[in-house]
Formats: sequence, C-alpha cells, structure tokens
Amino acid sequence: MTTEPQPARDAEPQPVLGPLTTAAIFLVVSVGPGYEERARDVLGDLAALCRSFGFGAPDGALSCVAGIGSDAWDRLFDYPRPAGLHPFRPLEGARHTAVATPGDLLFHIRATRFDLCFGLAAEIMHRLRDAVTVEDEVQGFRYLDARDLLGFVDGTANPVGAAARRDVLIGAEDPAHAGGSYVIVQKYLHDLDAWNALPVETQERIIGRTKLTNIELEEQGSHVDLNTVTGPDGKEQDIVRDNMPFGSPGQGEFGTYFIGYARRPDVIEHMLRNMFLGNEDARYDRILDFSTAVTGTLFHVPSGDFLDDLPPAPGKA
Ligand code: HEM
Repeated sequence: MTTEPQPARDAEPQPVLGPLTTAAIFLVVSVGPGYEERARDVLGDLAALCRSFGFGAPDGALSCVAGIGSDAWDRLFDYPRPAGLHPFRPLEGARHTAVATPGDLLFHIRATRFDLCFGLAAEIMHRLRDAVTVEDEVQGFRYLDARDLLGFVDGTANPVGAAARRDVLIGAEDPAHAGGSYVIVQKYLHDLDAWNALPVETQERIIGRTKLTNIELEEQGSHVDLNTVTGPDGKEQDIVRDNMPFGSPGQGEFGTYFIGYARRPDVIEHMLRNMFLGNEDARYDRILDFSTAVTGTLFHVPSGDFLDDLPPAPGKA
C-alpha cells in the first residue's frame, strides 16, 4: 500500500540554490540489490553528515544535494513517484548523441574548499562502499574567473533569488513533492586542440557571447540562442546550472560537467533537443563538435524535509 502523500507546502528544499563554489564533487552510484536500506540510511543522515564536516569551517560553504534516479525510486520509498521522474531520454542527432547512463543516486557536493568536498565524499563512500557501484566520480574546480575550459565565462545567465526558486523548485503542481526539484547531469569531454585552433570570433559565434568581456551576442543558432527556450505562454523558461570544469592535463582530459536544475525536467529536455537535434535556426549546437557527452542521467531531488523524515521503505508501511 502506498503511503498517502502529505501536502508539503512549506517544505525546506535541499541546498539546490547554493552559491556557485570553487570546488565540487559529482558522485553517481547505483545501489546493489538488497542494499536499499543502506542507501536510505545515508540519505536520511546526509544533512547531519554535511553539518559535521562543515561546522568547523563556516567559510567553506559545504553543501550536498542528493538526487534519486527513476529506477531507484520504487526500490527505496513507498511513496508516490514524482510526476516528472523518468529515465534520461537519450537523443540521437544527425551528428551527435546524448547518451543515457545508469545512476540511482547523485551526490552533488560543493564547497569553497576542495578538502571539505573530499572529506564528505569519502564519508559517504565509506558508508556505501560495498552497497553501490560507482558509475562516475568527477572532481570539479573553478577555473580563472568562472570560465569553462573552452575559455568562456559559464553561469552568467542563471536566474537568482525569487526567480531561481520559481524556476527550480516544485510547487503546487505536485504537492507531495513540493520543495523538490529535478536535475540532469552530463559529463562532456572536449577536444581542446581543435577548439583552440578556431579563431576567437568563430568561438564567440558558437557560444553566443564574447570571450573576454562575456557580452551576449545576437547570434542565431549559437549555444546561448539554442538554450533560450520559451514555454507555451511565450515566456522564457530558465534552469539553474552549476557546471564545473574538470580534467587531467597529464592524461589529455579536459571536460565540463554539466549540471542543470529545473522545476520540470522537460525544460532541460527541450534545451537538449535543440542542442542535439537542432531547430529552425541550426542543425545542432556546434559546441558539440568539440564536446562529447559521455554520461547522461536524470534525478529527482527531494526536499530536505523529505530526506529528514523518509517515507517507509516498500513493504514496510
Ligand atoms: C559542453 C558543455 C557546456 C558548456 C561548455 C556550456 C557553456 C555555456 C556558456 C559559456 C554559456 C554562456 C554564459 C552563461 O550564461 O552561462 C552557456 C549558457 C547556457 N547554457 Fe551551456 N554549456 C554546456 C552545456 C549545456 C547544456 C547541456 C545545457 C542544457 C541542457 C546548457 C544550457 C545553457 C543555458 C540555459 C544557458 C543560458 C542561455 C541564456 O542566456 O538564456 N548548456 N553555456
């Protein structure tokens, strides 16, 4: 029997709208069969763990957001599914592909100090070690003045304040999950030699902003243009991104970890369709000629209150 949803009108969100930080760890794991209770324990303890590590370093702004994948939901909770939760939908464009990759839990750990991210990730993994398969772990860093490794300032157009809360947090449309959100992650690997061989003006037309001064350009079919999407009411629909560069110069690896939060996943999916399948202005986003998506997963982000007081496990109601 599924637990009756309680309207959670004033539910406290997880720290989805935390400030952009200088360090992050993105950890995606799959929960082994029979280890659901262990996963629930870690989810229920997450806020306390974060406080333990962060309390002694208040300037470190340590935070962690947990996401739950579509396949994991019914294994972990006897509670109605969030309306927008489904597996990531892969996209096969004429030139480029958005792959779907597995993941039951996402931990998005942020701080102004990498050691705090590391400590918290280590503690989470200590508790989950034999219970999960690690699908992906990426250590991201702030690069120069918040630039991606393509050399452009990344994150400028993010909504802030009340607008961000409206764009990102579930409200009355799904009362059982109010205060929650959705997040899509994709790990992109760049061909930086090819990118850096382009004249800066060409790069700017591909991105849709000037490189040095970060001024938006009127450029149809640019990355910015393809990701400026409107809803049926003609109003612009925004998401909150917290992309991070990552890489290993010794291995020749240079990447961007894309992470986008939204109140409804179809807003991010609309952007992805424009990028990979194109629209009337462009066959596809030319950023993809230099950036390969090697992962793609969608998660529901429950509210903080949901995690603090988890609904029963299936069969335990
Ligand atoms: C290779 C991966 C990516 C890189 C390097 C990248 C980089 C950038 C840069 C430099 C900007 C302009 C500055 C800003 O407003 O942040 C931008 C804007 C944006 N990007 Fe991306 N991005 C990537 C992937 C994505 C993906 C996968 C999505 C969505 C599914 C996305 C959505 C957006 C949006 C919504 C904007 C703002 C558009 C506006 O001005 O309204 N990006 N991105």
